[in-house]
Amino acid sequence: MKLVFATNNAHKLSEVRAIAGARFSIISLQELGCFNEIPETGDTLTDNALQKAKYIHDRFHCNCFADDTGLEIEALAGRPGVYSARYAGEHCSSQDNIQKVLHELQDVANRKACFKTVIALILDGKNYFFEGAIEGEIIEDIKGSQGFGYDPIFKPLGYDKTFAEMTEAEKNSISHRALATKKLNDFLQTCHISK
Ligand code: IMP
Repeated sequence: MKLVFATNNAHKLSEVRAIAGARFSIISLQELGCFNEIPETGDTLTDNALQKAKYIHDRFHCNCFADDTGLEIEALAGRPGVYSARYAGEHCSSQDNIQKVLHELQDVANRKACFKTVIALILDGKNYFFEGAIEGEIIEDIKGSQGFGYDPIFKPLGYDKTFAEMTEAEKNSISHRALATKKLNDFLQTCHISK
């Protein structure tokens, strides 16, 4: 059974494939032949995830899902949140985003943060949503070289290393995306996929 994952992010693809297991095969946008930049202009993670999934569904008429993730920092009133990808500006890098967050948290004692993922699935024309979240804190300097995005500054609660210091398997055992993907997986086990 095939499901398209509407992402161009190789890290996300690898994380989700590792969790999904053998029952359904996850097709990348590249494999689908879609090389477009998919717009994400919503005000919430749910809106963005659905927007990305609908973009693919409308054009390719296939079962598909998309995720959207945000890093919510308590001392920044929940920012960058839904604006996590372009927090430091339109064409910014992950490094730029990280530096902006570290700058804004300079001399701030409350470092509490939460990663949230929403997955939107379009299956036989119906929409379904799955959420995952993990609490943690923003450390004062970058640590680690694995993962992507904000991983080098996010230390999950109860761990003494950042996501970027973990192997993919370790991150996948606890991460926001892993939790949402497991819910998607559980749901799919109960479904008959027609296409
Ligand atoms: P999106 O879900 O691809 O729109 O991601 C929004 C922003 O959060 C981007 O800057 C990503 O690099 C970042 N991001 C998404 N997932 C993760 C993650 O698992 N770890 C660290 N950063 C992430």
